[in-house]
Amino acid sequence: MTNAIDSSLTENRLFAVPADFAAQANLTAEEFAELQQKAARDPQQFWADLARQHLDWDTEFKAVLDSSDAPFYRWFSDGKLNVTHNCLDRHLHGAQRHKAALIWEGESGEIRTLTYAQLHREVSIFTNALIHQGVKKGDRVAIYMPMVPEAVVAMLACARLGAIHTVVFGGFSAEALKDRLEDTSAVMLITADGAWRGGKKVPLKHHADQALLREHEHSVKRVIVLRQTGADIDMQEGRDIWWEEAVAGQSAACPALPMAAEDPLFILYTSGSTGKPKGVFHSSAGYLLWTLLTTRWAFDLKPDDVYWCTADIGWITGHSYVVYGPLANGATIFMYEGAPMYPQPDRFWEMIARHGVSVLYTAPTAVRAFMKMGDEWPARHDLSSLRLLGTVGEPMNPEAWMWYFQQIGGGRCPIVDTWWQTETGGHMIAPLPGVVASKPGSCALPLPGISARIVDDQGDPVDAPDAGGYLVMDQPWPGMLRGVWGNPERYIESYWAKFNNRYYVAGDSARKDQDGYFWVMGRIDDVLNVSGHRLGTAEIESALVAHPAVAEAAVVGIPHEIKGEAVCAFVILKHQHQGDDRDELGAALRVQVTELIGAIARPDDIRFTDALPKTRSGKIMRRLLRSIARGEDVTQDISTLEDAGTLQQLGAQDKS
Ligand code: WT7
Repeated sequence: MTNAIDSSLTENRLFAVPADFAAQANLTAEEFAELQQKAARDPQQFWADLARQHLDWDTEFKAVLDSSDAPFYRWFSDGKLNVTHNCLDRHLHGAQRHKAALIWEGESGEIRTLTYAQLHREVSIFTNALIHQGVKKGDRVAIYMPMVPEAVVAMLACARLGAIHTVVFGGFSAEALKDRLEDTSAVMLITADGAWRGGKKVPLKHHADQALLREHEHSVKRVIVLRQTGADIDMQEGRDIWWEEAVAGQSAACPALPMAAEDPLFILYTSGSTGKPKGVFHSSAGYLLWTLLTTRWAFDLKPDDVYWCTADIGWITGHSYVVYGPLANGATIFMYEGAPMYPQPDRFWEMIARHGVSVLYTAPTAVRAFMKMGDEWPARHDLSSLRLLGTVGEPMNPEAWMWYFQQIGGGRCPIVDTWWQTETGGHMIAPLPGVVASKPGSCALPLPGISARIVDDQGDPVDAPDAGGYLVMDQPWPGMLRGVWGNPERYIESYWAKFNNRYYVAGDSARKDQDGYFWVMGRIDDVLNVSGHRLGTAEIESALVAHPAVAEAAVVGIPHEIKGEAVCAFVILKHQHQGDDRDELGAALRVQVTELIGAIARPDDIRFTDALPKTRSGKIMRRLLRSIARGEDVTQDISTLEDAGTLQQLGAQDKS
């Protein structure tokens, strides 16, 4: 990321909003200014008006923001609605009934389309199936699925009956799935025999079986299994049931029952600086409102758009911008099952041309990977249907920004760089495409209603242009997380304690330039950003230490051309393993991390060492390790280092 920051610091190009785009935008400069003013003048009225205007309520709310138990904020708490009514039922009138809600392409090239009426029907039937299997409002249901329409159906069916879903990314290991099943006390798991990925079958059901092996450690009573790859799998009598059997004979009549605004919609795990991943949970109404508005504002979605967010549903981007935000807007979503470069590097561009995709939302890591493959791959296809490009996940290096702009957007599409997090529910800082000019590498300005600031270590505002500090929010917003599942203390400690509950602390550092544009510089905690995915160093370290040969491990991030950051692990072997073959051990440790977390956490670089730099109080000096891993000169103060000899052993270039 150092490279990205270095080049961002000298970046001063400004890309004005194209006049023809501005003329048709959902949000014009005047409306934007009005919303900003209103939000500043009377935030409660601002949010209440938006919630009344954009959502269908079964019971109107009177309370807007309840801060009585801050920072456990509650929004619209005496109101009631059903999320799936807002995503499906209300779009069933007139011609929209037969509009495509979901266009799906399998890795094999198979195409399926579901209209709003059909998706509504599938969801209704599956909701009845869940009820028939004993799922009740408030129960937790885990979803460990490939990127297929049934995954969306499963999420919406949970929402329809008020069950809380927890989607586990299909690339996570059995062990990671097990942790989430336990932490949520899920009563059901919805999975598939497997997933297609790069022409190979990922054995999802096999992982699920491993996760469920010890019955006393989880509360899963039923496993629903979708047939997707045709893999040979074991079905456990009395526990496992095929999707077809579960839906057989179920009625398509299933009323969308009103839920309280604050009923949790889902739990999603994300890495923090310490311990195991946190189960961040979101509300029904506030979350829905924020994903609806941000989809409308940032992506400028229109009735005729074919919108494609390339994220997996296992991440927050998939929740907010594959499923809830676009469907709440009645949009047509495109969804792809498999690997981006399969069978060759133009798969994305081929599909954009084939389906007439007009809005594309992807990650800088994907853009960099495509850029590396060469201009000829996109050049082979007609990309003229595109009219807006989005990015998310990490700061976009200006070189990749320019390539995306020119080679994919043909120099005519605005690029919307969206800064947000699992915890924020939806976009927070982004250049609104019809209003705000773009600077490559900057996420530009906070959205209406969002009050983002940069503060110093004392919590005082940093106002000088380009001075860095903590990125914080000093006002609550409806889409914010409502807590950490089963662990209210961790919610406070992770997001609020740093400045005595005054601000929501994002965990990123950022600066603001003379035009008020935000430039996010990266995480300030021990969290890595690998290909736009958050990984805690502590998680990876504990996976390494779980290997019998390992005594101690420390993990840091190193810059990587495509992934942004890669995992670098320093490992101390137990005495009796000092003589073991290092290549073999390295391979075994990579397998170990893949099995305990998933392939995304696999270290690129493993360095065996005899000691780690520690302070006298025994804390690993991670910043020092980072410099060493990057081959940089050690400029940090090493006066607290317990044993200065350690540095030499690690091969540091000590210039201090
Ligand atoms: C972290 C959140 C939100 C969905 C994707 C990841 C980084 C995200 C940007 C951006 C600079 C970004 C931040 C943030 N990040 N988007 N546009 N510019 N940094 O969600 O796993 O919750 O990670 O991703 O560091 O804190 P997440």
